[in-house]
Amino acid sequence: KKPAKKKVRVYMDGCFDMMHYGHANALRQARSLGDELVVGLVSDEEIILNKGPPVTKMDERKVMVEATKWVDEVIVDAPYAITEEFMQKLFTEYGIDYIIHGDDPCLLPDGTDAYAAVRKAGRFKQVKRTEGVSSTDIVGTAHRGPHHPIMNVHERSLSVLSCRYVDEVIIGAPWEVTKDLITTFNISLVVRGTVAETCSFVNGEIDPYTVPRDMGVLEVIESPRDITTSTIIKRIVLNHEAY
Ligand code: CTP
Repeated sequence: KKPAKKKVRVYMDGCFDMMHYGHANALRQARSLGDELVVGLVSDEEIILNKGPPVTKMDERKVMVEATKWVDEVIVDAPYAITEEFMQKLFTEYGIDYIIHGDDPCLLPDGTDAYAAVRKAGRFKQVKRTEGVSSTDIVGTAHRGPHHPIMNVHERSLSVLSCRYVDEVIIGAPWEVTKDLITTFNISLVVRGTVAETCSFVNGEIDPYTVPRDMGVLEVIESPRDITTSTIIKRIVLNHEAY
């Protein structure tokens, strides 16, 4: 009998601010270079020093990254630059074999490569960066105001598909949950949270959940946080005023 092969453990670090499908795609590719993916989340303080204030703080970034399908472990408060010392810690304490980043240059404020030590040690691997999406773009789009979706339906589909709790996505689902939808997709229970972006249906507009409520298949769960697209936009605007 062959001895069990050691699992290849790979490490990817980053800010993962306002987690988007570009981040998810980087994590997916990183995971495919090994058996287990460990993600290092850069601390809020180090993001402020290197890039400016993050819109989503550590606790929120952690929830998003941990919910991503391809992530096995998360290390919080990882350093922005991989020092020789931190690299050795990754090898010995975390059993990491390779350190991975997208193929975009990752420079420190002094212009040097944040992964120089890793490259020198021959433990650096690269994945392809996803074109056309970045946190900076999201910040720019958010300025247009709350009535336009920041991401289109395909981008939003990729976002929810990267969530480990999601099995299938109906692209372009109707605003109202219809009887036809419930029967066609064989849905046993329709679930909604207590926090939602628009609650305008209480003022006489259409309640999208009338059908499942009448059928006795609607369950309301307490939303764990009150974050919505509007609160994200408010934070972006406040950040701009402050910096
Ligand atoms: N990444 C990617 N494609 C993107 C955005 C990010 O592959 N469109 C990758 C980065 O190369 C990195 C990881 O995701 O390996 C985490 O990126 P992060 O530190 O959050 O920073 P940015 O690259 O600046 O991402 P953004 O521009 O969206 O803030």
